[in-house]
Amino acid sequence: MSDTEAKPTIYKGLVGVYADVSTISKVMPETNSLTYRGYAVQDLAENCSFEEVAYLLWEGELPNAAQLAAFKEEIASEREIGPALHRVIREFPKDAHPMDAIRTAVSFLGLEDPETADVSHAAQYRKAKRLFAKIPTCIGAAYRASRGLDPVMPDARHSFAENVFNLIQGRVPQPEVLKSFDVSMILYAEHTFNASTYTARLVTSSGADMHGAITAGIASLKGPLHGGANEAVMHMLKEIGDPAIAREWLQSRFDHKALVMGFGHRVYKSGDSRVPTMKKYAEKMAEVVGDRTWMAISRELADEMLTKKNIHPNLDFPAGPAYHLMGFEIPLFTPLFVASRITGWSAHVLEQGADNRLIRPLSWYEGPEQRPVPPLSAR
Ligand code: COA
Repeated sequence: MSDTEAKPTIYKGLVGVYADVSTISKVMPETNSLTYRGYAVQDLAENCSFEEVAYLLWEGELPNAAQLAAFKEEIASEREIGPALHRVIREFPKDAHPMDAIRTAVSFLGLEDPETADVSHAAQYRKAKRLFAKIPTCIGAAYRASRGLDPVMPDARHSFAENVFNLIQGRVPQPEVLKSFDVSMILYAEHTFNASTYTARLVTSSGADMHGAITAGIASLKGPLHGGANEAVMHMLKEIGDPAIAREWLQSRFDHKALVMGFGHRVYKSGDSRVPTMKKYAEKMAEVVGDRTWMAISRELADEMLTKKNIHPNLDFPAGPAYHLMGFEIPLFTPLFVASRITGWSAHVLEQGADNRLIRPLSWYEGPEQRPVPPLSAR
């Protein structure tokens, strides 16, 4: 470091940095609100299907009935994956984490896609839709292979939500369960420049392709500080096991200065806009299934975190128990997040590509001063 150079302000974690403009979504922490293309997320969750929201994120406007029907038909026709990928999936280690499996499967789809190298807007959009259609098929096939089960083939008559349940669980649940799942997909779809979305944009900025950007996005989402938190939440709820000891358990976390998963957020400091809607549907799931333990523990934890630390839950907090109540095994929770976030990621990839500049920040060097390389005998 030169003595004459003043150290610049370092924005560790890029806190508070505006890295670009975007027209896709807006987080308003002062009112705890989030909009996709101008529509409040809770309004979308109550009134739209996930397919409509996917269309909105990509096209900028909600579809009319004819556009929605054509879109659903196009997606349904792209759901199947080829025999080579089925073979590769069967070779995955049985104990591989499903996030590693889906990351590898998406990367493999890039080997097979006829337009991988074409980064024109039209080709990138077609690839996004193909990935959106095929990701649930990959998640289902990998999960079932890890359990020694044959894959379920996609049924073109199924909605997005019906398809996911069928491919993973081999059954389509009742409408209340499908609605709660669809709501979770809508709430998970997009959230401005979070770590995985920014990763996807960064990969895109070098001129790399859609499959590369999405593969990197999945890798980023896996981390427990990001998407992996929904799995960590359910592990935590299971470890506690009983609402009566939730506050005591939390105190031991405070004593060890440990993180409590599913709480806190980089942008929202007084509540996550998506939580009330997801909580409502998680509570509904508890009623439908008749298992109220997890939401009872959740209420104790949320109450105590707010009272003692003034920290609010984030979306992963109600999503974790909701997915458990829907019958999904814990390692599938973050892959389900992938099945949704592919829409937001790819909308950002398209936006980055439309007005691209290589993303390349600076680092402030604090290593050794420049020095000569000593001969091997002198080291
Ligand atoms: N449990 C306990 N304390 C927490 C916390 C949590 N989940 N989240 C934040 N805090 C504390 C921090 O330790 C810090 O305390 P300090 O000022 O005494 O050091 C303070 O709150 C401010 O948090 P900060 O670390 O500045 O927040 P951040 O913006 O860097 O981190 C997260 C945001 C999401 C990474 C962080 O809240 C976290 O790790 N949460 C748990 C994982 C999770 O749920 N991730 C999903 C996010 S959607």
